[in-house]
Amino acid sequence: MATIKIGLVGCGGRGRGAAHNALQNAATKDVKLVAIADAFQDSVDGTVRLFSDKHPDQTDIPNERQFVGLDCCEKLLKTDVDVVLLCEPPGFRPRDFAAAVDSGKHIFAEKPVAVDSPGVRLFLNANAEAKANKQVVMVGHHLRFEKKHYEPIKMIHDGIIGDILHMRIFFDTGYLWTRPRREGQTEMEHQIRNWYYFNWLSGDHIVEQHVHDIDVMNWFMKDLHPIEANGMGGRQVRIGRDFGEIFDHHSVEYVFEERDVRGYSDCRQINGCWGAFSEHAYGTKGYINMDGHGTVVLNVNGKSPQVWKRDADGHQTEMDVLFDAIKEGKEFNNGDIGGTATLTAILGRMATYSGKVVKWDDAVKSELDLFPKTLAWDADPGPKPNDKGIYPCAVPGVTKAW
Ligand SMILES: NC(=O)c1ccc[n+]([C@@H]2O[C@H](COP(=O)([O-])OP(=O)(O)OC[C@H]3O[C@@H](n4cnc5c(N)ncnc54)[C@H](O)[C@@H]3O)[C@@H](O)[C@H]2O)c1
Repeated sequence: MATIKIGLVGCGGRGRGAAHNALQNAATKDVKLVAIADAFQDSVDGTVRLFSDKHPDQTDIPNERQFVGLDCCEKLLKTDVDVVLLCEPPGFRPRDFAAAVDSGKHIFAEKPVAVDSPGVRLFLNANAEAKANKQVVMVGHHLRFEKKHYEPIKMIHDGIIGDILHMRIFFDTGYLWTRPRREGQTEMEHQIRNWYYFNWLSGDHIVEQHVHDIDVMNWFMKDLHPIEANGMGGRQVRIGRDFGEIFDHHSVEYVFEERDVRGYSDCRQINGCWGAFSEHAYGTKGYINMDGHGTVVLNVNGKSPQVWKRDADGHQTEMDVLFDAIKEGKEFNNGDIGGTATLTAILGRMATYSGKVVKWDDAVKSELDLFPKTLAWDADPGPKPNDKGIYPCAVPGVTKAW
């Protein structure tokens, strides 16, 4: 096969990491980064500099293949790249993914795949087309590609801990970055720069970050999804003009139809508190503790625990699988798993925002569309700050969250 040409959409931290992983993939070194796209010129400029410096032999991004603006993905998809890496803020992903499927490219799509139910439906419908066209699709659930996760989870599916009784999952951490408002920015530019804190862009951290553990919960259950969720959450500490409208903590009980199994989920972004990025399953014969970045310990009926240390990074091995599939003409598509994980996370947010029990079927059908009516630098993105620059957040018991 000729050199595989890569296009990158969203040139931030993960986009640069994904492009680096793509260039270093284990299946073939005959790959080049040939086109990049970002909403902002500074991100594009920094990325051209970085890759020309770090990977000079695998980088060929002339000016005419550098795309800037809110239509940058559309423009990049008109080039002859073979594979596109979608690493922009999640709110844009379903539309970009559907356009990428239409253009016939193979696709790496970071998680989450959407931030609301209409976005998930758009993604899943496009993914059905991608499957029919045999386009390779990889959604970035990197834990699925780490041996410390896939080996013991296969053993759990084969019954080593018996029937699962309940699960606990955590993504508890401190604050992430903020990008405070700068003079002269329109409201749209401010929100897209500071995207983490607006639901139409990130889906809140239960969707943007905790989706990793939520995916593992569904994976423990052989890729079933919960049938309902209830939960609570709020914005207790992280309040201010730079923190938009998202909560700083969520706690959800997910209910699975299978044996009425419960999955208890906690995610928090508050400084100075206990932290965890982990998943735990308890069965009739044993239990497992899985650390996202660390060690996995399987305990069965009092026997010596079996331990897995973290091996190869899943961000790399997922790219190895993707490029192997493209090079060898194999079929690979984990889009449906990505769609289910994202909708499960959105179901959790619907529960914490509303304070009500939310059914899976209602989440599937929800028409609550968070995307702005018009996408332009001077258009109204939706959320509005008060006179002190603070954005309102959801109020459990009052907010209509689906
Ligand atoms: N799998 C993982 O472990 C992992 C880790 C970090 C982030 N992520 C995911 O990667 C994605 C990006 O996160 P990040 O940490 O790189 O954020 P980031 O803010 O560092 O980068 C996002 C980039 O997208 C650009 N952008 C904004 N709007 C755009 C648009 N419409 N089209 C193209 N580009 C646009 C921004 O200017 C920025 O350069 C998110 O979906 C996030 O959830 C995944």
